[in-house]
Amino acid sequence: MTVLHEIADVKRSPEEVYDYVSDFTTTVEWDATAIAARKLTPGAVAVGTEFEVECALPVSSITLRYTVTELQPNKLIILSGSCKFFDIEDTISFSELPGGTRIDYRAEFFFKPLMSTISGFSKAGLESMGRESVAGLAEALKDNFPLTTPTAADKVADKLVLPALSLFSRLGYKLGRKRFHPMTASVKHKHMVVTGASAGLGYATAQQLARRGANLTLVMRDRAKAEKVISDLQEETGNPAIRYELADLSLIADVDSLIERMKKRGQPIDVLVNNAGALFNPRSETIEGLEQSFALLLLSPYCLTEGLKPLLLMASSPRVVNVVSGGMYSESLNIDELIVPDTDAYSGSVAYARQKRALMVLTQEWAAEWESEGIVVNAMHPGWADTPGVRSALPQFRKITKHVLRSSEEGADTIVWLAVATEAGSVSGKLFLDRAEHSTHLVNKTRETRQETEKLMRFLASNSLSADVVQ
Ligand SMILES: NC(=O)c1ccc[n+]([C@@H]2O[C@H](COP(=O)([O-])OP(=O)(O)OC[C@H]3O[C@@H](n4cnc5c(N)ncnc54)[C@H](OP(=O)(O)O)[C@@H]3O)[C@@H](O)[C@H]2O)c1
Repeated sequence: MTVLHEIADVKRSPEEVYDYVSDFTTTVEWDATAIAARKLTPGAVAVGTEFEVECALPVSSITLRYTVTELQPNKLIILSGSCKFFDIEDTISFSELPGGTRIDYRAEFFFKPLMSTISGFSKAGLESMGRESVAGLAEALKDNFPLTTPTAADKVADKLVLPALSLFSRLGYKLGRKRFHPMTASVKHKHMVVTGASAGLGYATAQQLARRGANLTLVMRDRAKAEKVISDLQEETGNPAIRYELADLSLIADVDSLIERMKKRGQPIDVLVNNAGALFNPRSETIEGLEQSFALLLLSPYCLTEGLKPLLLMASSPRVVNVVSGGMYSESLNIDELIVPDTDAYSGSVAYARQKRALMVLTQEWAAEWESEGIVVNAMHPGWADTPGVRSALPQFRKITKHVLRSSEEGADTIVWLAVATEAGSVSGKLFLDRAEHSTHLVNKTRETRQETEKLMRFLASNSLSADVVQ
């Protein structure tokens, strides 16, 4: 048997440290060798929960399967692991210190016969890995990391279309991920509202936030889908604090009644994610007489966010995350052409891109206006992700790009980061892709003027009022 024993003191509460470590998938953020991890058992972490962790070796990798064998909330977690070379028992205990927590990490390796020699593991090598891992855990728990500084490649991608597009792909995510910092901020019990959570990026966002213990209100328009989403997420994550609100967000009357219901409940909102969206081909109008993409992608998040602002202001450090699209790079803000008319030349992609451009400008306006009130507002674009929306609205595009599309989880990662990471609360009015700030324009000719921005704000205010009249 080889025993490793490390101690680290961190300035976090035992509850936060325990919550972070007991979801053992976080090992990829701090363990020196872990390259992938997943939870195999649904529900809250409990005795019997299994995890799979893939660890890098000098020339290959090994997969360890861990089972939680003992758990004392905020105090202790014991995991038994096994792989082809050895069995392992990790005993991790947490004790309260003034202003922090002592982590005591003990790993006992039981090599299978002859495997110690064949595998090439030495006691000194294991000891150094153990030291690095516990130091990595302590570092991760420091939290509040510096924001990613743009690389030379980012700077090129912010000026040229082809390099920019390459970052939208799965490869872009893989490159971006190399610069990710651990996300150890606790969002347990924070109230987060996510629109369009029944599928794609919204579902993936809800899944990650639920796993982290957030208190979720998911806005969806279909009762049957909503009920399934809630029961699936509760079963998978063991988080009971997930509820839904029904609203067809392309109807401003529905948005208004959603706002009224939420204001009546009076629950402060820590994070609002404006994610619901779709690309409309052919052109269509809502029963309220508004062009669909304008109604759903711009007027709806405008009305919802303005309407929920009193609840955002009740939270200690509220955030708004607007999901835009790289498609906006092709369009400038021009209010006279914001709503694409009903002609043969109508293109759903153009209509969509114009609303997303306007939502980006709105993000910057809100960020500036609400800075003194403490509301942080940022936008992100997910790159290209293989979601039901892309499959149904852009089948040809998907056929060509399917091998380079991101997964929904990869596309949603920056939404989660903007909602959770401490450092993401230190900037406002910016656009992010893969947790890194990017320019909102690739070419100068799409830059909006101050007059056009002011016109947008007047246009949205007057349309939200006329929508009141329609109901
Ligand atoms: N996937 C990408 O590559 C990509 C790229 C750039 C930007 N985006 C943006 O990312 C966001 C999410 O897109 P996605 O790809 O995840 O799309 P998705 O798979 O189609 O999911 C869209 C979500 O929005 C909901 N939604 C649509 N219309 C609604 C309405 N009228 N009222 C309420 N909810 C409505 C959908 O609900 P139902 O299930 O009821 O339809 C669904 O939950 C959108 O804002 C999209 O523009 C996506």
